[in-house]
Parts: sequence; structure tokens; C-alpha cells
Amino acid sequence: MSMQGSRMQTTGSPPLLEVASVGKSFGALAAVADVSFALRERDILGIAGPNGAGKTTLFNLITGTPFFPDSGRVTFRGTRIDRMAPHRIFRLGLARTFQKEASFANLTVEQNVSLGATYGAGLSGRARERAVDAALERLDLSAMRRQPASSLTVYGTKRLMLASAIVVGPKLLMLDEPASGLTASEVADLQSLILGFRDDGMAILLIEHILPLLFGISERVMVMDFGRKLIEGPPSEVARDQRVIDAYLGGQSEAAHALAG
Ligand SMILES: Nc1ncnc2c1ncn2[C@@H]1O[C@H](COP(=O)(O)OP(=O)(O)O)[C@@H](O)[C@H]1O
Ligand SMILES: [Mg+2]
Repeated sequence: MSMQGSRMQTTGSPPLLEVASVGKSFGALAAVADVSFALRERDILGIAGPNGAGKTTLFNLITGTPFFPDSGRVTFRGTRIDRMAPHRIFRLGLARTFQKEASFANLTVEQNVSLGATYGAGLSGRARERAVDAALERLDLSAMRRQPASSLTVYGTKRLMLASAIVVGPKLLMLDEPASGLTASEVADLQSLILGFRDDGMAILLIEHILPLLFGISERVMVMDFGRKLIEGPPSEVARDQRVIDAYLGGQSEAAHALAG
């Protein structure tokens, strides 16, 4: 399906993020093919799909890290970003976390977040200190601020990635499997954090395999398979879709019924 010549349905303001027919191949493998979707302010769009479906690659294309799309357009806040340097995209208000827990292990928790504030928002001096303090407080990391990042638990490291992302006050937060490896109570805590970010005015793009979380907080869910968008719709509709059950929910038909409500 081509987006060319068609306009997103609008009821007032243009979308915050518009992804139009983006694609990326690695040799013969089309990791992402002809994917389009749009996101409004304070929207939560969940992205699901089997391993290798192209979810992380889609995030990489949107953020220009570590590569650009081969085809298609990405527009954020009215500006084309599909050939823009990653730090400029960050400064426009688009922040992400990574699937693999990533931090500068030898720096302290505070120094990690401070790097986000410097690189992502160009802050310095007192403004930077205030932003870092607020982000640490928000993610319950203030007590650990002088510890090396390597001393954090899995959930601590996830919260550090979140602090480094939100320190710039983004309009869009992209989370790549933030709940993997967490206990049930940590997942519940993460869920309320994400909803809190949305209430603060951020839109959220959420890749997640923990389906109760994904279907529980997303306004819409998009399922990818073999690099393509299989379906996008309200969670209850998506969980009932036979193609989704076949491609992804598979043996989890009980889970599918529960999700469909
Ligand atoms: N840098 C890369 N070079 C070659 N192949 C890649 C690269 N990144 C991803 N792929 C391939 O693209 C496909 C989609 O991967 P990915 O986006 O990580 O899937 P998902 O996040 O949905 O599990 C996989 O087959 C993966 O092996
Ligand atoms: Mg992935």
C-alpha cells in the first residue's frame, strides 16, 4: 500500500509523528517493508510481533541510529527527519530507550543522566542540574546517584535509560521492550511510569512482548510480521484477529481470548 498522494486522516492538528512507507533491507532480507502509521500527541501506540519481525529496525529507521531508511519518509513535528543526524532528532524532542540494557557502566548514575541532558537538550550549568535532579527523582534513582551505573539491577538500568531519555522533556518517547527481564511488580511499576509520562504530555511508541502490558496501556496496537505491518487497531480488535493469532499469538490462544476481553 502506498501512502503517496493520500493524506493522513486529520481532525485538526497534524500528526506528531508520521511514518510513510519506510523500508530497509539488509542484502536480500527486507527487515522493514512499506510500513506506515501516524501518532498524535499523547497517543500510546503498541508494537508487537514475533522475534525478527522488524520492530527494532523500525525504531532505528525513525531515530536515524545506526542507519537511515532506504525508502519512505519520516516526519516529526512537521519536519522531515529521515536523513537527520540522531542528536538533532533527539533535540527536536524524540527520545528512545534500547532493547539491550545500555549505560556508561563506569560513570555514575547522575553522570549518565547528565550526558543525556547535555547531548539531548544542550543544557549546561544550573538548568542541567535541575533537569537531572528532576529526572532522577522521577525514576526513583536519587539515592543511587553517586553509584556507578554498573551497580544497578536490571530494573535500575531500565530506569536509568528512561531517566536519560526523559531528561530532555521529549514529546515522543520510544521504548523497545522495556519490560523484558522484569518481575511482575516491576512491570506494574513500569506501567504506571509510562502512563505518567503520557499524562505529562508525551506520546509513547512501545515495543513489548509482555502482552498484558502492551494491550493494557496502548490505545492502538500494530502487529508486524516479516517486516510488514499486519494490522493496526484497537487492542480488543487486534487480539481477535485471526492473522494475529496465527502469526504471533499462536499457541497462546487463551492469552488471546483474555486480551480480547
Ligand atoms: N544491522 C543489521 N544487519 C543485518 N541484519 C539485520 C540488522 N538489524 C536487523 N537485522 C535483521 O532484520 C530482521 C529484523 O530484526 P529486528 O528489527 O531486530 O526484529 P525485532 O526487533 O522485531 O525482533 C532480523 O532478521 C534481523 O536479523
Ligand atoms: Mg527487537
